[in-house]
Amino acid sequence: MTEQRVAIVTGASRGIGRAIAKRLAADGRHVVCVARSQGPLDELVSEITADGGSASAKTCDISDFDAVAALVEGVAEEHGRLDILVNNAGITKDNLILRMSNEEWDAVIDTNLKSIFVACRSAARPMMKGKFGRIVNIASTSGLVGNSGQANYAAAKSGLTGFTKTVARELGKKNITANCVAPGFIETDMTKDLPAGVIEHIKGVISTRDLGKPEDIAACVSYVTSDDAGYLTGQTIAVDGGMTMC
Ligand code: NAI
Repeated sequence: MTEQRVAIVTGASRGIGRAIAKRLAADGRHVVCVARSQGPLDELVSEITADGGSASAKTCDISDFDAVAALVEGVAEEHGRLDILVNNAGITKDNLILRMSNEEWDAVIDTNLKSIFVACRSAARPMMKGKFGRIVNIASTSGLVGNSGQANYAAAKSGLTGFTKTVARELGKKNITANCVAPGFIETDMTKDLPAGVIEHIKGVISTRDLGKPEDIAACVSYVTSDDAGYLTGQTIAVDGGMTMC
């Protein structure tokens, strides 16, 4: 059995997931870094190891539900435990509702919502066996207040908050917490193509007047997944520079 707490972080190849993986490794976790392609994961694992941390890489397309279940169950079996699950991987397929296709809707709901249900279901048993669990689902402020062009994305992320509260209610007595962290606008590949005018407008409605960094989200996830955070469950914590305050 691995002695350290074992964490799975999906979508770890870049952006927010990468920062979370590095932060949890710095916290002393063994981090299983998950994404679709091996190359960036190998690079990340080398970086973590060079910094004195412990990590391994697994490729998985999280829109393949059987693969997600096999991944989570496989990690728990390999390490003899699973303590932390951070469901971070996500996609956007933006369009105004008048033009949004069924395929755009389904792709986002499947990747951003259904796969997370499958991952949590697979994680529940090993976490119950270990009498400890920290589940963090990365939601979005779009799911809290809506966002024009993101009906599919907002529905999936909003769905995550209700789903996560239910997981928290069902598993709380087993010392397993479940929370959402909802980023606002964070500087990653997901937001890098926004036009300059849009960025300026966004900054104007953020209390701190700036976009966030992946490390801002990682710092929150670090606390929520810590042993100290056992009394924090069923929450959606917006890390958004005071943009939504809800
Ligand atoms: P990103 O696009 O930079 O990275 C997404 C990660 O998920 C990548 O590692 C990608 O390979 C992985 N991924 C996507 N689809 C996958 C699949 N089918 N199977 C396996 N891995 C897959 O995104 P970013 O910005 O780092 O976002 C991370 C999370 O934070 C997402 O859930 C996103 O919805 C959420 N978020 C991001 C915000 C932002 O401003 N960047 C704002 C609110 C929420």
